[in-house]
Amino acid sequence: MKKHEMPPMKKNETPPTGAPMKRPKPKIDFRALGRVLRMLREFYPVLLPVTVACIIFSAATSAIPALFIERVISSIETWIDTGDWASARTEIIPMVLILIGLYVVSIIAITLYNQLMVYMTQGFLHKMRCAMFDRMQNLPIKYFDTNKHGDIMSYYTNDIDTMRELISRSLPTLVQSSVTLLVIFCIMISFSVWMTLVLLVGVTVMLMASGRIGAGSSKYFIRQQRSVAANEAFVQEMMNGQKVVKVFCHEDACRKDFEVLNNNLREDSFRAHAYANILGPIINNIGHVLYALMAMVGGLLLAFEAPNLTITGIGIISISVIVPFLNMTRQFTGSINQVSQQFNTIAMGLAGAKRVFALMDVEPEADEGYVTLVNARRAEDGSIVETEEHTGLWAWKHPHGDGTLTYTPLEGDVRLNGVDFAYEEGKPVLHDVSVYAAPGQKVAFVGATGAGKTTITNLINRFYDIADGKIRYDGININKIKKSDLRRSLGIVLQETNLFSGTVMDNIRYGNLDATDEQCIEAARLAGAHDFISRLPKGYDTELANNGSNLSQGQRQLLAIARAAVADPPVMIMDEATSSIDTRTEAIVQRGMDRLMENRTVFVIAHRLSTVMDSDVIMVLDHGRIIERGTHEALIEAKGTYYQLYTGAFELE
Ligand SMILES: Nc1ncnc2c1ncn2[C@@H]1O[C@H](COP(=O)(O)OP(=O)(O)OP(=O)(O)O)[C@@H](O)[C@H]1O
Ligand SMILES: [Mg+2]
Repeated sequence: MKKHEMPPMKKNETPPTGAPMKRPKPKIDFRALGRVLRMLREFYPVLLPVTVACIIFSAATSAIPALFIERVISSIETWIDTGDWASARTEIIPMVLILIGLYVVSIIAITLYNQLMVYMTQGFLHKMRCAMFDRMQNLPIKYFDTNKHGDIMSYYTNDIDTMRELISRSLPTLVQSSVTLLVIFCIMISFSVWMTLVLLVGVTVMLMASGRIGAGSSKYFIRQQRSVAANEAFVQEMMNGQKVVKVFCHEDACRKDFEVLNNNLREDSFRAHAYANILGPIINNIGHVLYALMAMVGGLLLAFEAPNLTITGIGIISISVIVPFLNMTRQFTGSINQVSQQFNTIAMGLAGAKRVFALMDVEPEADEGYVTLVNARRAEDGSIVETEEHTGLWAWKHPHGDGTLTYTPLEGDVRLNGVDFAYEEGKPVLHDVSVYAAPGQKVAFVGATGAGKTTITNLINRFYDIADGKIRYDGININKIKKSDLRRSLGIVLQETNLFSGTVMDNIRYGNLDATDEQCIEAARLAGAHDFISRLPKGYDTELANNGSNLSQGQRQLLAIARAAVADPPVMIMDEATSSIDTRTEAIVQRGMDRLMENRTVFVIAHRLSTVMDSDVIMVLDHGRIIERGTHEALIEAKGTYYQLYTGAFELE
């Protein structure tokens, strides 16, 4: 058996376990950080500054007790020296009260900013998801042709989650720790320059160690994120393809493929966390060493302070300075530890943000169309007049350069003139295709697989734009028509049937959200779907799930036809719409469609020639060219390709 094939995996850069690792570089994306901050400021112009102010206040309050402790200790020292409790008391009690007051306010500030952060984070993510979804709705079909759907899924789950951590936890901690560090540093300098200098040397060593480790782990955290996305994409693909996997007995091969992805994930996660987990204890322990070092330095300075050992320039130091200084040393190293712990979350959050921004920055489907579809009625003189109410008569509203407006009734006259097209540059799919379909006509396309039949319909509804030639709709170049209005005027039954979660009725109503239940049932009758729906246990209220997996393929097609029919469109495109339907039911659908599409245009694509025999004109496509056109009888008479297809001679050859 051929080895199980899977889409080429993105090369994972993780070196195999045990391989020497290069010195990794930190992966903080400052551009993405700037954009996240700008967006936060834009979304919450008042709440954000309030939150930052609360964070700064609480950070500052957590740092200043040192000042008070110094004053309290020196007051106690004076009291012990002089025995004057009364004056010591007047100094100590107000300070203690102020300290308590500050802490109470600080608790309020902490509670407030935590609540605000939760509110802003969830609001921010909500807005991001909305923006992503909005953009996704406006992306050209090409984007979905060329990007893995599992990857797109992971933007909404994995990447958004990393952003949640970034905004709710890491950024506030970063601000808080930075402020604490700054305030403590200033107090330290004012207490003792020498001790501060010694501490700075120690901290530099600490930073160098944490920098090495932190930079390494952030890289693996980002890889871990990519691996999670690859795992998700694979699982999604496997779920969609479960039946094919089983049919070809590929369970084992799939398991192996999954194992590769899963191993990558384990390895990336292992490396990421192995680094991250040692970072904290290392910094902590260096902090302990620094604490002891500072105690020694303080003791030495105190000794030099003795009258007979005074060294000029060292400055005054006393026990009232050393005690708070040691406390601050702990706080200082603790804050550095906290900052370093955020490094990975920040790197990951920004990598997630970058991917989300990349989706949001994809160029949306361009639409320069200015001709719109409006409700219309005929005035007494026979001219077309725009109207608010739904009249059943539609018109193209065409503004001209000279300021005038013309209204053209929507009839469904579609003409392709010398159309060339290529999905990818240099690989033309259609060559010089010309098709004329007048209202009321039924135009059929037949031809071998890959001949370009579906492509023609993709061009009429402007999923893709043509390279050369013209497509006119009721005499208007379709490039001038607003895309949504153009598509609204076309009823399309796509080659692959897609149904959505919801009831059968919901799925039919998808074609026209204003349709009443009666209209939906009428459309189902026209489409020949009513019979089978009535036999379903809950009829029109039957819930569909997983693309209608509880229906047969033909039933799904009938629903898709009903969905297009309820829109009551002037032009209908049916791409292999009845390919899975038995010939007897097809004849019923055909009659229904004929009734619906009287005086309207229908494009039919079918391999089964009995489906297209009664068409007004049949186009035979071959490698993107129309090689024959005419009625069934004329084409049979001509004894060309169509004749060969019809008589089976083609296959026999
Ligand atoms: N999204 C795409 N990107 C690139 N090439 C494409 C794409 N879709 C189709 N093609 C190519 O364009 C050609 C015409 O495809 P098309 O889907 O129009 O064939 P078709 O006549 O509808 O075939 P079938 O009868 O199998 O439905 C094929 O060679 C196909 O490989
Ligand atoms: Mg096709």
